[in-house]
Amino acid sequence: MGFYKYQKRIALRNCGYVDPEDIREYIARDGYEALAKCLTAMTPDEVIQTILDSGLRGRGGGGFPTGLKWKFASGNRGNVKKYVACNADEGDPGAFMDRSILEGDPHALIEAMAIAAYAIGADEGYVYVRAEYPIAVNRLQIAIDQAKEYGLLGEDIFGTGFNFDLKIRLGAGAFVCGEETALIESLEGSRGMPRLKPPFPAQAGYWLKPSNINNVETFANIAWIINNGGAAFSAMGTENSKGTKVFALTGKIKKGGLVEIPMGKTLRDVIFGIGGGVRDGKEFKAGDTIRIAVDVKNVGQRDGKESVLLFINDDVASVVPDARRLRDFDKVEIAAGESRTVEFELKAEELALAGNDGKWHLEEGTFTVQCGNLTERLTCTATTHFGENIR
Ligand SMILES: Cc1cc2nc3c(=O)[nH]c(=O)nc-3n(C[C@H](O)[C@H](O)[C@H](O)COP(=O)(O)O)c2cc1C
Repeated sequence: MGFYKYQKRIALRNCGYVDPEDIREYIARDGYEALAKCLTAMTPDEVIQTILDSGLRGRGGGGFPTGLKWKFASGNRGNVKKYVACNADEGDPGAFMDRSILEGDPHALIEAMAIAAYAIGADEGYVYVRAEYPIAVNRLQIAIDQAKEYGLLGEDIFGTGFNFDLKIRLGAGAFVCGEETALIESLEGSRGMPRLKPPFPAQAGYWLKPSNINNVETFANIAWIINNGGAAFSAMGTENSKGTKVFALTGKIKKGGLVEIPMGKTLRDVIFGIGGGVRDGKEFKAGDTIRIAVDVKNVGQRDGKESVLLFINDDVASVVPDARRLRDFDKVEIAAGESRTVEFELKAEELALAGNDGKWHLEEGTFTVQCGNLTERLTCTATTHFGENIR
């Protein structure tokens, strides 16, 4: 039972409860009620205000406030062609949060994208999903077809005159295509290369039209927020990060799986309280190669604070290329096998930190790290103070 003790399921609320291939089961659990409420009882600006009130931040890594993003894309409704896109590329190593939502509750995504389209004034949407997720793609397509059959996608939804068409586009699994402007390039049929920003997608996105892009998990919270109100969502979490966060817990941990907890829970809660600790009687210490990655606490700028967990792995060899890739992305080049010391500002959301006192820590802010002897172990030492998330 410890596995469920700390959990609060919002984004995952229907996973495991509904048959994802039967729209009636989603509807039976209040599915599409939020869309109906938006279209019949709320103005687009009221929808945006509700999302702003909720404090929801993007779950794709950047942590940008979702309501604000919608607001930026909302100008000139009705006069300009606009798009809504879902980032279902999920390239982070070991992650399966988005995949599980797509496979377990595809209608939650469809409903949320329709709500976003109504809010910003779009009539067309795309889900960009990696082709390595065939079950997700198949279930999503079934869900889209059923939603169309039920009049929940397409023209004149709920008799309100609102139109929204949704299509799937497959990605080839390139990590960079998860970056939103590279994703747009790929959607347009070009090579997935990031564009310079500004302009941001909200100004000039897909085919240079105003576009709103959100991550799967971000979207999965939307219908719940509309149904329960922004305040109910913002009542959970921390001052800077509201609501819950889904984690894919995997590797050498006693109980792996998908967990959803209120923001602000410590890694100790996740690893020991939920996951039961390290497998095979081993200890949780710097000698293990553990990675701590991605979350949206107190971010919104690239050098903001990040926190929380992704996965545990004691295979040194697999950690080094991961770390290289993340660092390549930050334009610091370290070849595998090369042994030298490098200093860089930690701007990426994903990086493991090992304290030299045998404990694992997660820093709470921008700082400089040193990395050396990569062939044996990725060891990073913050030169400023450490947070004390793990004791
Ligand atoms: C290199 C790189 C890879 C990224 N990969 C993903 C990804 O796989 N999935 C995702 O949702 N966002 C990814 N992002 C973040 C997106 O660019 C974008 O911020 C996000 O889709 C916005 O959605 P959100 O506001 O709901 O988080 C990536 C960003 C970068 C820089």
